[in-house]
Amino acid sequence: MIPMWRVRTKSGGQRARRPARVGGMRQEIWDSETARGYDTPGTGMFAPEVLGPTVDRLAALAGGGRALEFAIGTGRVAVPLAGRGVPVTGIELSRPMIDQLRTKVDEATIPVIAGDMASAVAPGAYTLVYLVFNTISNLLTQAGQVACFRNAARHLSPGGRFVIELWVPELRKLPPGQQATVYHAEPGYIGLDTYDVVRQLVVSHHFRFGDGREAKLFRSPHRYVWPAELDLMAQLAGFELESRHADWSGGAFTEESRSHVSVYRLPPA
Ligand SMILES: C[S@@+](CC[C@H](N)C(=O)[O-])C[C@H]1O[C@@H](n2cnc3c(N)ncnc32)[C@H](O)[C@@H]1O
Repeated sequence: MIPMWRVRTKSGGQRARRPARVGGMRQEIWDSETARGYDTPGTGMFAPEVLGPTVDRLAALAGGGRALEFAIGTGRVAVPLAGRGVPVTGIELSRPMIDQLRTKVDEATIPVIAGDMASAVAPGAYTLVYLVFNTISNLLTQAGQVACFRNAARHLSPGGRFVIELWVPELRKLPPGQQATVYHAEPGYIGLDTYDVVRQLVVSHHFRFGDGREAKLFRSPHRYVWPAELDLMAQLAGFELESRHADWSGGAFTEESRSHVSVYRLPPA
C-alpha cells in the first residue's frame, strides 16, 4: 500500500518553528491548520492495517523498556503504542502538532519535549528510539541527519535500538535530463517529486483536486537518503544495522522496495 502522503506528508515535510528555504520555498508547514487536519482516523496512515503492524513491531523492539519517538507529531504511533503498555516520550518541533496530541493524551501519559530531534534532550534512558514516516528527510542537511543519529544514540541504553522508516529515493526513474517523477496518482491526488541531484534534495508537490473543490497544492522539501548513506550515518553514531525490511511486517527488502524499516543497534554493555 502506498500511503497517500507518500509517507512524506500530507502537507509537507516540516517545521513550523525554523523556516528554511529550499529552491526559494519557505518552510513553515507544520502549522495549526496542518496539525488540525493531520489525523485521518481509521484511514490512510491511521488505518489499522498500517498502524497495527507498526505498533506490534515497535512494542517487540522496545523489549519491555521505554521508547522515545523523534518527531512524535500528533501521536499517530505513540498513542496506540502507549496504549499497549510501552512507556513513550516524544520530541517534537511543532507546537501546533503537540497541541493536537494533547487533545488525546496528557503530559503524564506521554511527556513531550518541544525541540529539534537533532539536538533536544529527553530525560532518562530508553531501549528504543524511533523515527517513522520518512521524517529524517525533513532534516535538510547531512550534518543535521548525522546529528539526529547521534542524538538517538545519546538517549539509548547499551544494546538499545534506533528504528527508521524511510522511502527509497526513486533515482532509477530519472533518466538524464529529467528532474521530476510522479510517485503516486489516484483520483483526487497526484504526488510529484522534483529532484536536485547535485544538492541531494527533493521537493514533493502534493496536488489535491476534484469534487468541485478548488485544487490545492502543498509542497515539502526533503533531503533524500540512500539506505547505504543511512547505514554510514548510523556507524558514525556507533550503531550497527541489525535488520532491514520492506515494511513493518517483516517483508523482504529488495531492489523493488519503495521504502524500508531499518533497525540499528548499539553494542551491548
Ligand atoms: C510526517 S509527520 C510525522 C509525525 C508522526 N511521527 C507520525 O508518524 O505521524 C512529521 C513531524 O515531524 C516534525 N518534525 C519535523 N522536523 C523536526 C525536527 N527537526 N525535530 C522535531 N520534530 C520535527 C513535524 O513537526 C511533524 O510533526
